[in-house]
Amino acid sequence: MVDMDFDLFVKRMKAKTDIDLSQYKEAQMKRRLTTLRQKNGFHTFASYFDAIELDSKLLNEFLDRMTINVSEFWRNPGRWEAMEKKFIPEMLKSGGRIKIWSAACSTGEEPYTLAMIAAEMGAQDRTAILATDLDAIVLQKASQGVYHERSVRDVPRSYLQKYFSKQDQDHYVINSQLNKSIVFKQQNLLHDSFDSGFDIIVCRNVMIYFTEEAKHLLYQKFANALRPGGLLFVGSTEQIFTPSQYDFESAETFFYRKRS
Ligand SMILES: C[S@@+](CC[C@H](N)C(=O)[O-])C[C@H]1O[C@@H](n2cnc3c(N)ncnc32)[C@H](O)[C@@H]1O
Repeated sequence: MVDMDFDLFVKRMKAKTDIDLSQYKEAQMKRRLTTLRQKNGFHTFASYFDAIELDSKLLNEFLDRMTINVSEFWRNPGRWEAMEKKFIPEMLKSGGRIKIWSAACSTGEEPYTLAMIAAEMGAQDRTAILATDLDAIVLQKASQGVYHERSVRDVPRSYLQKYFSKQDQDHYVINSQLNKSIVFKQQNLLHDSFDSGFDIIVCRNVMIYFTEEAKHLLYQKFANALRPGGLLFVGSTEQIFTPSQYDFESAETFFYRKRS
């Protein structure tokens, strides 16, 4: 059923923010935004949008809710073990620099996990990590590198001791040395152009929110951004069903390699 009120909201939001909600799965997105609209006391998306135009707090709340920022260090540890034991050593073997992109990095747990792995191998100086997200607020948090005790519970003990310091009773801060290999940048995966020549792209737990069509274009853009032999690491519900159509082959569960 066509919902003109919601469709118009999507169009006006695109014009205002460049965020194209029509490329996210509709039922999910609509449910989340309807709850938010109702919580703020608006009966239609039209009146909600008018209010957003006048109130940056409402806009920030909308951006915050539509993006879902949950992240973790070492999320799915078995897969990170493959990254640590197999793929990063393989990339470093050539002796040159490696170029990694952590896309949709949220509050920075993934790029810092990558930076710790590289540092542990004595390869921090040879590793450049680009970390991007749509949401400027999470990127700011990421670059500060301050985490609640709860968030660091999956960080292996030896890494916690080496790469974090206790900031206060409940918080840890990442050692500033690690930040040096990471560049944080705001970027919309559905809209912006990508850099190229990456050895590894990590993009997890955001594609689940996108429509099939948006995902298809994104896989193609990722394939173009990787060097031949480079790897794409996806989330645990984000398998690519026919990787060959993007010139990928499966390298390990949730890792795809661009054919050489
Ligand atoms: C659930 S978090 C995933 C964080 C991390 N990759 C992980 O797996 O732990 C999803 C992230 O995707 C970001 N995001 C949503 N839409 C995006 C888009 N179009 N372009 C870039 N990032 C986007 C959100 O801001 C959010 O930080």
